[in-house]
Amino acid sequence: MQTLIFATNNPHKVEEVRSVLKEHFTITSLKEAGIEKEIPEPYDSLEENAREKSTVIHALTGKNCFSEDTGLEVDALHGAPGVKSARYAGEDADSHKNIQKLLLDMQGITGREARFRTVISLILHQKEYLFEGICMGKIITVAKGEKGFGYDPVFVPDGAEKTFAEMDLQEKNKYSHRKKAIEKLIHFLTRHHGKDKN
Ligand code: IMP
Repeated sequence: MQTLIFATNNPHKVEEVRSVLKEHFTITSLKEAGIEKEIPEPYDSLEENAREKSTVIHALTGKNCFSEDTGLEVDALHGAPGVKSARYAGEDADSHKNIQKLLLDMQGITGREARFRTVISLILHQKEYLFEGICMGKIITVAKGEKGFGYDPVFVPDGAEKTFAEMDLQEKNKYSHRKKAIEKLIHFLTRHHGKDKN
């Protein structure tokens, strides 16, 4: 099976991506590749940050790799937290603080439409390719559920009646932005598979 390095230090993302890609590719996390680097996300777009991560890891390893960057975009907040989702409540913020700030910022707002958007940057044989996955939904007013990570406890995807944090991974994958982006990646990679010598 072909191997791809997934340029992330987030074990939740590795688990989610593996659950979708495992029949097609062997995924090596940064930790498994022996890379202990925190990769910066200095840019104002998900696309540029995803590209930065895959470029840094490709430069270090010379291997085919991909990265992803995800943001929660809330209509009433003009697309915030967006690319700043991880640091919405400040540089040392955690998911709990980010959720608290989001709920506070949305107090009294009735239009609660939002979307998760994932951008994947793949570097395959020195060329870069981008894939996008979007999940539309709503921000609820009180966090619910213990599973998942990040903003999962306050996000209910369209077509569901519970938050991502109340779903197991299989159920989250029916709606997930990341799953949609990965499916595009799989489609692309399987078309290139014959040509690929790693
Ligand atoms: P990043 O892609 O690691 O920069 O993530 C940005 C922020 O969005 C972090 O706060 C994550 O916890 C959050 N996030 C990313 N993906 C998801 C998801 O699938 N569900 C909930 N929160 C997420």
